Amino acid sequence: MTAQNQSEKDRVVIFDTTLRDGEQCPGATMTHDEKLEVAELLDQMGVDVIEAGFPIASEGDFAAVHEIAKRARNSVICGLSRAAPKDIDRCAEAIKPAARKRIHTFLSTSPVHMKYKLQKEPHEVYEMVIAQVTRARSYTDDVEWSAEDGTRTEHDFLCRCVEAAIKAGATTINIPDTVGYTVPEEYYALFKMLREKVPNADKAVFSAHCHDDLGMAVANSLAAAKAGVRQIECTINGIGERAGNAALEEIVMAIKTRNDVLPFWTGVEATMLTRASKLVSAATSFPVQYNKAIVGRNAFAHESGIHQDGMLKNAQTYEIMTPESVGVKQTSLVMGKHSGRHAFVHKLEDLGYKLSGNQLEDAFVRFKALADRKKHIYDEDIEALVDEEIATAQDRIKLVSLTVIAGTMGPQSATLTLDMDGTHKTVQATGNGPVDATFNCIKALIPHEAVLELYQVHAVTEGTDAQAEVSVRLAQGDHAVTSRGADPDTLVASAKAYLGALNKLMARGARMHAQHAAQ
Ligand code: KIV
Ligand code: ZN
Repeated sequence: MTAQNQSEKDRVVIFDTTLRDGEQCPGATMTHDEKLEVAELLDQMGVDVIEAGFPIASEGDFAAVHEIAKRARNSVICGLSRAAPKDIDRCAEAIKPAARKRIHTFLSTSPVHMKYKLQKEPHEVYEMVIAQVTRARSYTDDVEWSAEDGTRTEHDFLCRCVEAAIKAGATTINIPDTVGYTVPEEYYALFKMLREKVPNADKAVFSAHCHDDLGMAVANSLAAAKAGVRQIECTINGIGERAGNAALEEIVMAIKTRNDVLPFWTGVEATMLTRASKLVSAATSFPVQYNKAIVGRNAFAHESGIHQDGMLKNAQTYEIMTPESVGVKQTSLVMGKHSGRHAFVHKLEDLGYKLSGNQLEDAFVRFKALADRKKHIYDEDIEALVDEEIATAQDRIKLVSLTVIAGTMGPQSATLTLDMDGTHKTVQATGNGPVDATFNCIKALIPHEAVLELYQVHAVTEGTDAQAEVSVRLAQGDHAVTSRGADPDTLVASAKAYLGALNKLMARGARMHAQHAAQ
């Protein structure tokens, strides 16, 4: 669709819930600063609505939503709330500073949720819908109501609740496929039915919110758009509860690339999709699968001879969209040990980073150290380095040095020095292999109960001098965090990743402690 024939009726509002549905999934916790950074990018890239969090859930969620509300320039800032009055009040308080604000309030409507989760009769739920929307409307004109588990809700009851919500003042009606159960034809028919049967349906925008349990979240969301839905809820990289939510980048690019059959448009600047994907992946430490549509590292890679030959003759033979259209720059040999600070800052700007003060200094020192050890520095190397710099800026515990003795003669041993709140501490330990020895050192200096759930290594670029990127997931009780570390030395990257995860657990522990103390 060209700019000239874009009409408002075909515009699909992009509602991003990376910071709420995405962040609430196991292991995807972000720090306060990471949330602000993600929100800033979403705001810049043309996302219409940012669901910034669930303010009643924790002090941390409240603070993030409040700060994002203060800073947003373009997007509507939305907070989630259940039906309880105190939830709605807390949400209203959190979004108050926003120039454009929305309260998103939800309630389950399916028989199974009403009976077992809410333990309420349908007539009670119906009254609660009216009460929650009315209360939310007393704070803002922009109110979204969601029928949780909408796709498993009895149709007549769903119609009655939707009608009541609109009458009470809801301006957006969201019908989530909470459990990822629906299929495109069924979801399409559900919205058609609602738009035809609900008498005041024309007074609200209908919205799709799909989970990917059966791998159909994006297809379902697009089917909903065909049925007249004009808001799609999605997340960067598709992160979210269980199998995740519909991926924002896939929705945006499907609409752009197949506009012949999906005659809609969005306000999202597609060239920022790759940057957003990398930022969210770094902040959550959730690696993006290699073959992930649009933003996976293989999404534009052509390996087979036949494909490469076709690509050289004409890129359209195997490419339905260009890498540039989603912000992928060709891997370029950019910097080396002779590059100065000015070139480094320029490069960072080019890659979309804005570092200043100590963060910039530290990143530059680390870049120089890397350039001394690695012949070719690619964009990906700089991104890995800076993402790690951002993620570790507030860490209490930092790696100072690591020496490992490995090889066939065993036992493998490591000597590790950490900076712990400004004090250097050193320890030596052995282990069943060099990684185990390194982690045993960390455990000796920082005794903890956390369990290592995932240890994964991959190379940032090609070649034997490539940087290794290690992901580590630690679980403590029912809470898990993931962190990443990058370095040309796999063991140093491993230590950084493990420490990153421990720092996140400690930051969470401190937050919980502060919350308890305040209660
Ligand atoms: O999946 C879901 O039902 C939700 C609602 C809170 C909108 O995330
Ligand atoms: Zn959801």
